[in-house]
Amino acid sequence: MTTPSPPAWLARNPRADRTQKFGDAQRFVIDPDGIAELCEELKACPAHKPTPLHALPALAARLGLGALRVKDESQRFGFGAFKALGGVLAVSNVLAEAVGAARAVGAVGEARHATPGFESLMKGEHRDITAGFVFTTASSGNHGRSVAAGAKLFGNRCVVFLPKFTSAVKEAAIRQRGAEVIRVNGDYDTAVAECRRQAEARGWTIISDTSWEGYDSIPRSVMRGYTVLVEEIVRQWPEAPTHVFVQAGVGGLAAAVIGYLWAVLPKRPTFIVVEPRSADCWFQSNLLGKPALASGNADTQMGGLACREISPVTWPVIAEAADWFMTIEEDEVLPARRRFAHPLAGDPAITSGPSGCAGLAGLTRACTDAAAFAALGLGKDSRVLLINSEGDLGEPLA
Ligand SMILES: Cc1ncc(COP(=O)(O)O)c(C=O)c1O
Repeated sequence: MTTPSPPAWLARNPRADRTQKFGDAQRFVIDPDGIAELCEELKACPAHKPTPLHALPALAARLGLGALRVKDESQRFGFGAFKALGGVLAVSNVLAEAVGAARAVGAVGEARHATPGFESLMKGEHRDITAGFVFTTASSGNHGRSVAAGAKLFGNRCVVFLPKFTSAVKEAAIRQRGAEVIRVNGDYDTAVAECRRQAEARGWTIISDTSWEGYDSIPRSVMRGYTVLVEEIVRQWPEAPTHVFVQAGVGGLAAAVIGYLWAVLPKRPTFIVVEPRSADCWFQSNLLGKPALASGNADTQMGGLACREISPVTWPVIAEAADWFMTIEEDEVLPARRRFAHPLAGDPAITSGPSGCAGLAGLTRACTDAAAFAALGLGKDSRVLLINSEGDLGEPLA
């Protein structure tokens, strides 16, 4: 009997080699060292505590799986999205490095950098050096809120560039954290271009979650923040997942999840990257074997995933260790959000946004297509991990 080929919305990664070791090229993108210490340092932040990893046994059984766990980032910092981990930490790193460089002591060549910690920056102990920084970023909403929160925490000015589609609620949440907002007449990629133009003209520091030629250190620092949630998962689920469905915009979240789990787990899970069909830049890049533009115009309700271009610095992790790439349709989002909100008997209710539930939309699609289910090796022994990357931030559920 021949096995049916997978559907067109599911593509295998021909570069993924499961015997490949996590090496230096990957470590440059996601460095697993020091993450436990970072989690410790975060305790200085009063709002910080690990987010829950929910078990959904009833939904797992319904989908024909052994176990299903959902990392619930809607509860991160009372902030409502995993993005809180990235922007705040990247802002703090920029300031710490500036202080370290300015206070360097000793002879040239053996300078010791007195890099201050999170707490010291929060107390404003180095305002003579840090006060002049103006931070800026482009964002579909969540990342901008995180950068604004970081700038506010350390007392700096912040300017956030938003695409046309970002909800008024998300804009208000950014303003509430003291940032100025500039709306561009276009999509996320247009906002990135405008942010770069103005930052260069005015000497502002860009805290971007995406990278480009010559700019990757800050996006790597943003992803380092995301690895905190992955470290929490590793502690919360000693059995570890066999399959991970992770949604991608530019790929920062996916790189953190894939890279960290690849580095620390004894057995690499099967990784499936999920994108909206109109914003399928990773799906297309996989087909082409190099960074490629999305096939659509990124006009999607999944605002956090509405990207036409990948973050190139993530390539050595995602392009080499994601096993599959898949797309989902717009009409699969609401059912997934509703399933989280109104669970099967015995499962917990989870509040999600359109980008937050994209992993569940992908999993549901894969589990209701026999060829996809078989191709991904799903079944009664599978332990599946999803990340609810955001809560309800102004996108209506009905
Ligand atoms: C809620 C949510 N989920 C997922 C993503 C995707 O993250 P990345 O762009 O790092 O792939 C984003 C990005 O903004 C987001 O806001």
